Amino acid sequence: MSRPEAPLLDSRPAVGDEIKKDFPLLMAHPELAYLDNAATSQKPEAVLKALDTYYREANSNVHRALYSLAEKSTVAFEDARRTVERFLNASSPREIIFTRGTTEGLNLLAWSLSELLLGEGDIILVSALEHHANFVPWQQAALRKGAELVLIPALEDGTLDMGFLNELDSDGRAAKVKIAALAHISNAFGTVHPVRILAKWSRERDIPLVLDAAQSAPHLPLDAQATGADFLVFSGHKVFGPMGSGVLWGREEWLEKMPPWQTGGEMISSVKPEKSTWNELPYKFEAGTPDVAAAVGLAAALDWMSSHGVERLEARERDLETYAMRKLTEVEGLILYGPRDPYRRRAVYSFNLAGIHSHDVAQYLDKVQVAIRSGHHCAQPAMRLMGIPSTARASLAPYNTPEDIDRLADAVRGVQEYFR
Ligand code: ALA
Repeated sequence: MSRPEAPLLDSRPAVGDEIKKDFPLLMAHPELAYLDNAATSQKPEAVLKALDTYYREANSNVHRALYSLAEKSTVAFEDARRTVERFLNASSPREIIFTRGTTEGLNLLAWSLSELLLGEGDIILVSALEHHANFVPWQQAALRKGAELVLIPALEDGTLDMGFLNELDSDGRAAKVKIAALAHISNAFGTVHPVRILAKWSRERDIPLVLDAAQSAPHLPLDAQATGADFLVFSGHKVFGPMGSGVLWGREEWLEKMPPWQTGGEMISSVKPEKSTWNELPYKFEAGTPDVAAAVGLAAALDWMSSHGVERLEARERDLETYAMRKLTEVEGLILYGPRDPYRRRAVYSFNLAGIHSHDVAQYLDKVQVAIRSGHHCAQPAMRLMGIPSTARASLAPYNTPEDIDRLADAVRGVQEYFR
């Protein structure tokens, strides 16, 4: 296998070092190489400040009261929605629904779309490499409706076999597919999935496509409409925002037709003993008091990304990725999963060391202050396909530095030495 070229780290602005200064936790722990960004990212000062300011200066319920403080809170919430709309290039704030995260967004879609579209014998199409959040809700919807969950198969290098779509066409199953769902980037192997191929195929057959952007939103500019998907979900906490924040974007024509997932306050238009009618978009899908501070904090995180330039952050990360790939493939005995082609993978490095359990790897790394995740990464079907129970997984963010990667590679050699 040919190794990627050395990165241009010396000739680019040191975005990693520069932006690390924005992150209080990382500055307070200079000894820590934080490489578990696929699980959650650290939060910049701007986000912490937005949360604090909201609770100190605007806290009150939204959309319900006429006094000035409530108006201030409502404006903050709706401004946050506008920020997300701009960030995603959505066509209207009506298409932006605040959620608690990707998992909630996918559960909402699995329930609502299956109520709208799914009958007995129909098919939901997902991939074999999904996170459980984009797998189990569809599996359960299929079970509820007497439908079938069909998987786009994976190849050995952790990419998907998109030729399977031709099989669905030729054996007639394509006509039964009512919903398709795919991760943009695999959290287990870092594979960038061919969204456009599935989007084109789905569009030609009028099948709504759900895109799980949990692992792509932190790493690349996202234009929701240009993805070709009909729905896109991501989590705030992975894009430097608060835990418990998230976004569901959907094309208005679909959202209008879909039944609400949760019912209760604010999502109604009128309630009578025998019948209720629903509020307009997006409120139809936001039952109960929302986490306003989380939405405000999420918007602050997106503003923080925009202030550095999402493309600039991505360029820095691509250099780090090239460097990480080189350093890890230099370690003898390290089995790296996922594609080698840098255009087909992003930011995630799942690996095993022969004869050493991934938990032992992660524990040893913790001793030398290198934080990674180990386990099945909420992707048991994907692990099973690779014939492994678990991996050690290092994952990058733009505040990481080449030194973090050097420390990872050195620590991995240290594990091998320790268990020799
Ligand atoms: N989905 C997150 C991960 O992959 C938690 O680690």
